[in-house]
Amino acid sequence: MTHFSEDGKSLSINQVTITEQENISQHIAGFNDVCLIVLPIRSQSDSFYSVLKESIELLGKNATLITIGSSNQLVHVQSNVPLVYQLWISIKRKTPQYSVEKRSLPNYHFGALVHTAYQGALKHTVTRIKYTYCPACDRTTKDYGGKKHTYNSYGTLISDIWRDIACDLEADLSDVIERFSDLFGLEGYQELRVLDCRNLKNSTFYATENQSVLYKSQLSLFSETACSEDAISQLINGDCLEQLKQLPSNSVDFAFIDPPYNLGKNYNGYSDDLSIQEYFLWCDIWIKEVARVLRPGRTLAILNIPLWAIRHFLFLEKILEFQNWIAWDALSFPVRKIMPAHYAILCFSKGKSRSLPGLVNQKNSLDTPSSSRTFLPLAPLAQNYCLRAECVRKRNALELTDRGMLTDLWWDIHRLKHNSRRVDHLCQLPPQLLYRLICIFTNRNEVVLDCFNGVGTTSLTAHQLGRQYIGIEISEKYHQIAEARHEEIRQGLDPFRKEERKLTEKNSRVPRKIKQVYEISKKELQLEVKRVANQLGRMPSREDVINYGKYSIRYYDEYFSSWGEASAAARHDGMSESRANSQDDNLKNAANNNRQLGLFS
Ligand SMILES: C[S@@+](CC[C@H](N)C(=O)[O-])C[C@H]1O[C@@H](n2cnc3c(N)ncnc32)[C@H](O)[C@@H]1O
Repeated sequence: MTHFSEDGKSLSINQVTITEQENISQHIAGFNDVCLIVLPIRSQSDSFYSVLKESIELLGKNATLITIGSSNQLVHVQSNVPLVYQLWISIKRKTPQYSVEKRSLPNYHFGALVHTAYQGALKHTVTRIKYTYCPACDRTTKDYGGKKHTYNSYGTLISDIWRDIACDLEADLSDVIERFSDLFGLEGYQELRVLDCRNLKNSTFYATENQSVLYKSQLSLFSETACSEDAISQLINGDCLEQLKQLPSNSVDFAFIDPPYNLGKNYNGYSDDLSIQEYFLWCDIWIKEVARVLRPGRTLAILNIPLWAIRHFLFLEKILEFQNWIAWDALSFPVRKIMPAHYAILCFSKGKSRSLPGLVNQKNSLDTPSSSRTFLPLAPLAQNYCLRAECVRKRNALELTDRGMLTDLWWDIHRLKHNSRRVDHLCQLPPQLLYRLICIFTNRNEVVLDCFNGVGTTSLTAHQLGRQYIGIEISEKYHQIAEARHEEIRQGLDPFRKEERKLTEKNSRVPRKIKQVYEISKKELQLEVKRVANQLGRMPSREDVINYGKYSIRYYDEYFSSWGEASAAARHDGMSESRANSQDDNLKNAANNNRQLGLFS
């Protein structure tokens, strides 16, 4: 196993095969531990979901419920389960599932929805995943920089995307089941009861399809004739609800939407905290408008956190056809004990999708700008390869095959962390995300729309890739920034280049410490707290460090943004990035191995 639960014991696993849906309730009634339901292989009728709902209502007050199935099954579970939503976990498949006509990306993950019968935060053990190592340089996949002394020697906290294990929904799920038995191996729980419904009798068709066809015909999304001649690239400063109405039907080849998440962010000129009902009613209006302007066979992609994506999904499937739930592992931060790394990109086509340009024409990505030379939009980095410049250089020189398959599970694109890549926007996306999406879903000269264009990540990448673009943005400030960056492209500059910029907006509540020259290194100060901890046999407080530490407390107050940061090294035993001694030898061995395998000529 590649995980380790620090503070628990494994639950005893009890597996039951369910063949009649009526039998589910008898195994659930009054059960107060952890129940894991594996959904039938085929999508189910509404009657299955109502039986499920009635059964789940019988769970005990302290129970945890895990439901495992494909993404498009789980959205229906979420809309039927009368419990507290806690988590959506994406789990890597062993065997990708291909669409023969290439109308969607290969499916490479399924999901586990976690609910609780109790209110409040999810209770689970502190579970860590072993560090992974780059197959070429044998150092940790992630570069931990100068903070290694503050990390755990075993591994990182688990996140909501599991890629270190792989199972198929149709086959042996024991790795996943064992992990849940450890993750929830808490005081008070004894049993993990697995109700395996995969062989349920009378698996039926997906009844909501009928309703969906009816709804789609009422919407008359297809009624107007194509009207798309020479669309002209443009940025529009205005409210998307009004501006979308001005666009002709069937005129856009790909729409990418990164809406405000309604999480109370302080956007320039827009309130991001509507009531949840108001928020989704508002979303449904612009989704319908975007669907209208989309050309038949083309794709609308919406980015959101999993819980919000579920709600979008339930509306989208009424008017468009499901293609993919892309699980984007966007590099997690340890903000919770299960790190939130998962962003969902929902892809739906207007009617039957055309074969995806990026899957039928690999040349679609050749025009990618040079801002990120190692990034090939249609050839993602294979799992575990690192992004250290020296290792990438050596891999390229040795012609090492470090690329993997393009699927609906993405891990090689990280959120913008460094200020030198940001302009003044709270939620600016990395351009690589848009390079990939645009290369998959469009050909050159086709029209890309983003009606929440921010500082222009979508319109700028479309411009660089030789596509037409329409970017709508309500904030004048962001609109002006995007305009200026398009001008940079026209002048031959890369708007995503690295640059020292003075930012006025910051996407974190913790005040940033001003860069300064340190009289004593931060590492030395943190190691001193660790020494005091060892001396006292407990985590030291600020007062303890005043009394027993050898450095003045003023250094701690001036150099660290919190006591948590100052005492980080005392909580962990520290880690090493290196697994083997000779990196160059490993590289050569890997290259030789690749040559012998005929991976490149
Ligand atoms: C999540 S941000 C998009 C950031 C963008 N993807 C980028 O990389 O710059 C959402 C954007 O939607 C804009 N916005 C909010 N309501 C809007 C509306 N009604 N019409 C147009 N834009 C809106 C906000 O000002 C914000 O810039």
